[in-house]
Amino acid sequence: MWNERYNEAEYIFGTEPNDFLKENFQKIPLGGRVLCLAEGEGRNAVFLAEQGYEVSAMDMSNVGLNKALKLAQDRGVDIITQVADLADYEFGQAQWDSIVAIWAHLPPAIRQHVHGQIAPALKPEGVFILEAYTEQQLSMDAVGGPPATQKERFGSLAVLRAELAELEEITGIEKQRMISEGKRHQGLSAVVQFIAKKTDEHEFRR
Ligand SMILES: C[S@@+](CC[C@H](N)C(=O)[O-])C[C@H]1O[C@@H](n2cnc3c(N)ncnc32)[C@H](O)[C@@H]1O
Repeated sequence: MWNERYNEAEYIFGTEPNDFLKENFQKIPLGGRVLCLAEGEGRNAVFLAEQGYEVSAMDMSNVGLNKALKLAQDRGVDIITQVADLADYEFGQAQWDSIVAIWAHLPPAIRQHVHGQIAPALKPEGVFILEAYTEQQLSMDAVGGPPATQKERFGSLAVLRAELAELEEITGIEKQRMISEGKRHQGLSAVVQFIAKKTDEHEFRR
């Protein structure tokens, strides 16, 4: 499905980074290693590479990641891409200064598999940055987010807090905001924004 959506020259979510990431990327330790999950056509990964981070972008869509590599080349930066399914993706241990998940709307079993790996995979002081649509999006007059038949894929602050309790929350909010990201994300939208950090205490608790 995503390969078909991405199979056109236009970047369907645009080539500019997500606003929430752009406002908050400086919370990522300078020059650190960043893993962008479900990164599609690569606009967030390329932006982070432009800011001096060492960026890996993964997605199940090879068509999306090929566009990501082209965007990186056009902008004169390097990113590493990996075609993989988050259902069985291994994040490694204490590998990443940041893990970024922008609009990664996953079925609950895959989401839990992903969230369970975030804390161990971050380095101490590493940050997890996420923005997702909430179920309220279904009643908004906006473009973007999972369909009504996939309600279980929407994000929620309660679920993020429960599944990422090992991290120290820095930002956690459900709100409405204007979004303009290519033709696929437009209008006043209902989102959850979440940033959490791995503290040294996490190492002691393990
Ligand atoms: C709404 S797009 C977001 C793309 C990108 N993060 C952005 O902000 O432009 C959702 C992405 O999730 C990817 N995706 C969905 N399920 C996935 C899975 N199980 N493993 C890896 N990627 C997945 C899709 O291929 C798609 O690129």
